[in-house]
Amino acid sequence: MNGKKIKSILESSPNDEKCTVRGWVRTFRANRFIALNDGSTIENLQCVVDFEKLDENLLKQINTGAALQLSGTLVESQGSGQQVELQVTELSILGSSDPESYPIQPKKHSLEFLREKAHLRVRTATFSAVMRVRSALSFAVHQFFQEEGFFYVNTPIITGSDAEGAGEMFRVSTLNPKNPPLNKDGNPDFKEDFFGKETNLTVSGQLEAEAYALALGDVYTFGPTFRAENSNTTRHLAEFWMIEPEMAFYDLYDNMDLAEKFITSVLKHVLISCKKDLKFLDERFNKEENTKPQQQRSTMGLLEKINFVVSNDFKRVSYTEAIDILRNSKPNKKKKFQYPVNEWGIDLQSEHERFLVEKHFNCPVILFDYPANIKAFYMRRNDDGKTVRAMDILFPGIGEIVGGSQREERLEVLEERIKEMDIDAEELWWYLDLRRFGSVPHSGFGLGFERLVQFATGMGNIRDVIPFPRTPQNAAF
Ligand code: 4AD
Ligand code: MG
Repeated sequence: MNGKKIKSILESSPNDEKCTVRGWVRTFRANRFIALNDGSTIENLQCVVDFEKLDENLLKQINTGAALQLSGTLVESQGSGQQVELQVTELSILGSSDPESYPIQPKKHSLEFLREKAHLRVRTATFSAVMRVRSALSFAVHQFFQEEGFFYVNTPIITGSDAEGAGEMFRVSTLNPKNPPLNKDGNPDFKEDFFGKETNLTVSGQLEAEAYALALGDVYTFGPTFRAENSNTTRHLAEFWMIEPEMAFYDLYDNMDLAEKFITSVLKHVLISCKKDLKFLDERFNKEENTKPQQQRSTMGLLEKINFVVSNDFKRVSYTEAIDILRNSKPNKKKKFQYPVNEWGIDLQSEHERFLVEKHFNCPVILFDYPANIKAFYMRRNDDGKTVRAMDILFPGIGEIVGGSQREERLEVLEERIKEMDIDAEELWWYLDLRRFGSVPHSGFGLGFERLVQFATGMGNIRDVIPFPRTPQNAAF
C-alpha cells in the first residue's frame, strides 16, 4: 500500500503525475470537492471527483471523518489557495463515518468539548498543529543536547524517594487494597509489597541523573513525571513530561546560561521547521485574544512572542531584589494582590511571577538565590546561611517554566539540611555516597515540556498540549 503524503504533494509542482493518497475527509462540497487531510501537514489536498461517474452508494459515503483512498492525476489547481489538486479517477472508502454521530463537524468546537473527545480531537486543524509542534520540539530537545555532547539517560519511573519533598506522589503497590497485610502498628506492611518497601511514581529523575552526571559529565533525562498535587489550573497536569539536564562542574551561572541557550535553540528550531503550523496557531491566538477584554489581551502575537524570546536576553534578578520590586509595586500598594508582599521569605505566587514578567520586566526572567526554607533539600546553601543557589525561569503567560539549582556537593552541609528538613537519610544513602566519593560542584534544571509546548503554540490550557491529559478526577482514554 504505497501512497504519497499530502505534505510532499503540496510541495511539488503539478506535472500531470499519477498518484495515490490516503487520508480523512475534512469537508465535502458540492458533491465534487473533497478536502482531504492525512495529518502530514496542516493543509488539505483538494481532490475533485466527477460525481456523474461515481456510484451513488459510494458518493453517499464521502462524509466528514471518513477515510478514503484516492488515485488520480495531479494538476494545476483551478481554485485559489493552492497550486495543485487531484483529479480523482479511482476512489475507495477505507473506513466510512456516520455523519450524524461523528462529533468533529466542520465548524468551530470549543476546546472544552474537544477535551471530552480526546481520541478524535487530533483530527482538527488546531490539535494536529499543536501535536506536530510538540513532536518537533521533542526532536529539538534531543538534537540540542546531543549536539552539546550530553548523554541521554533513562531514570526510573518507579522509585522509593521523593526528590522534591513535597509528598505529592502516586503510590505503586500490589497489596490487596481491601485486606492489606498490617504491621504491628496497624498500618499496611509494605515489606510484603511487590518491592518490599513503599514505592511511588517518580516526581523527578534528578537524583538519579546526578549519579550519572558524576560519571558521564553532562547528561539529560526526558521522560514522564507524576505529581498528585490537587491543582486544577491551566498549568498543572498529574502526568507531565520533564527534561532534566544535569552537569558536573557547572555552577549556578553556567546552569542559567545553558537553560537560556537551550530554550532559545528549541524555539528557533520550531520557528523554522513548523512554519505553517505556527502561522495557523498565530492566527488562532489572535482570534482568541480578541475575544478577551482589552486589559487581559496579550500585547504581542504568538510569533512575535516567540521571536521576542529568541532574540532577547532573559533578565536575571535575585529573589531579594524581586521582593523589593514587588513590595514597592503599584498592585501591592493598592492591595490588588490576593497575597500581599510584606516580608522577605514568602513563596512567590503566580500573580507575583506574572507581575514581574508581564508588567515590570516584560521579558523572561530568571529569579535566583531563593530562601532555603521554600526550596528542596538538595540545593546548595549560600554563605549567607539563609538562601540557596536556586533558579526559576518565568515566562510571559506561563509563569514558571524551569526550576533548577546548583546542588549541595558538601556532605556535611547536605546531611545537616536533610536532618533539618526531617527527611529519611537512610532512603538517600546512595545519594549521600555521591558526596563521599569524588563529589564535585554540579548543577541542573527541570523544564516542564508541556509548559514549553504551551508557550510555543499559544494554547491557554495545558490539557490541550498533551494527547491524553491526566488531571484530578480525570484519567479518561
Ligand atoms: O520546579 P520543579 O518541581 O523542579 C524539579 O522537579 C527539579 N527536580 C528539576 C531539576 O532541577 N532537575 O519542576 C520543574 C518544572 C517546573 O518548572 C514546571 O515547568 C514543570 O516542571 N512542572 C509541571 N508541569 C506540569 N504540571 C505540573 N504539575 C508540574 N509541576 C512542575
Ligand atoms: Mg519549581
